[in-house]
Amino acid sequence: MTILFAVTATALWRDVWGHPAAPSSAPLLDAQFTNTATLRMSAAELIRTGGDTSGLTCGSCHDEKKKPVSVHFNADGTIRLPEEHKDLVMQHGRNNHCFNCHDPSNLELLKTRDGTTLKVEEGTKLCGSCHGPTLRDWEAGIHGRATGFWDPRAGARVKADCTSCHDAHSPAFPPIKAAPGPNLFRASLAGAREGAH
Ligand code: HEC
Ligand code: HEC
Ligand code: HEC
Ligand code: HEC
Repeated sequence: MTILFAVTATALWRDVWGHPAAPSSAPLLDAQFTNTATLRMSAAELIRTGGDTSGLTCGSCHDEKKKPVSVHFNADGTIRLPEEHKDLVMQHGRNNHCFNCHDPSNLELLKTRDGTTLKVEEGTKLCGSCHGPTLRDWEAGIHGRATGFWDPRAGARVKADCTSCHDAHSPAFPPIKAAPGPNLFRASLAGAREGAH
């Protein structure tokens, strides 16, 4: 035992096995992966934060009481939008008709299929009127995102609206880039991981 310890101590002292490579400096993560903002700003958030709501004031061009608005279609059944609405991308499948969601008698309101009118900032209720199972998941915290406090006594919990993530007119969630894996500080470990691929 004594000899074994003596040999080991000498070997360590003389650095027979060398040292692992110095840690490589961790590259900084691209800011897009640490940005906690939602994909888009819902009308509710825009109003809450005092943003530019000019796009939500339909009355600056429409006077639906005097001139009712009708939806126009192309020969292939898709919706034909006027120049003023060319920025809208309509990709909600068979649910593209404007008046499935907007109230034709007051364009600044939303309207569910059962005739309930909602303010534009209540879009989540509109979505939930057709996407019942998703709304239930959202309420249970399985779909979407909640921030704020877990314990209601400590503070409010804020749930992101459907339109914070989905564009009402083109709701499919776009593909997003995955964040890189964890940084392996030791080059030798990184090498081992590379080797495992
Ligand atoms: C910059 C002017 C402008 C604003 C603001 C505007 N619209 Fe329009 N919109 C038009 C014009 C022009 C048309 C085509 C003529 C018409 O139908 O009156 C149109 C048509 C429409 C149509 C019929 C679509 C079709 O197929 O022709 C709907 C629905 C509509 N608008 C909803 C809205 C809603 C809801 C808002 C507010 C959130 C709004 N618009 C704000 C100018 C505007
Ligand atoms: C009037 C009923 C109705 C309302 C209101 C409604 N949807 Fe939909 N939604 C549908 C239908 C129907 C489909 C399937 C369309 C298809 O495949 O033709 C759909 C599809 C979707 C999809 C899948 C899209 C895809 O390409 O995979 C998403 C996401 C979605 N809706 C989100 C929303 C959100 C967010 C709202 C609220 C702003 C909303 N929906 C409001 C009826 C509705
Ligand atoms: C699935 C429901 C749904 C359909 C169908 C729909 N909208 Fe909307 N629209 C909304 C909601 C909800 C908002 C508010 C968006 C938000 O919270 O960000 C909105 C916002 C708007 C706005 C103002 C803000 C913006 O995005 O430019 C205009 C203009 C508009 N819609 C026009 C139309 C027209 C025209 C059609 C038909 C061609 C249409 N919408 C079809 C639900 C719908
Ligand atoms: C924090 C962002 C976020 C919020 C808030 C959110 N969603 Fe989603 N939603 C997603 C993502 C991400 C997907 C998955 C997309 C995929 O798999 O391609 C999705 C998928 C969907 C789908 C497609 C079918 C499915 O279940 O996979 C529907 C419909 C939908 N959401 C409706 C809603 C409705 C209605 C609300 C509000 C009650 C809502 N979403 C709130 C991010 C969100």
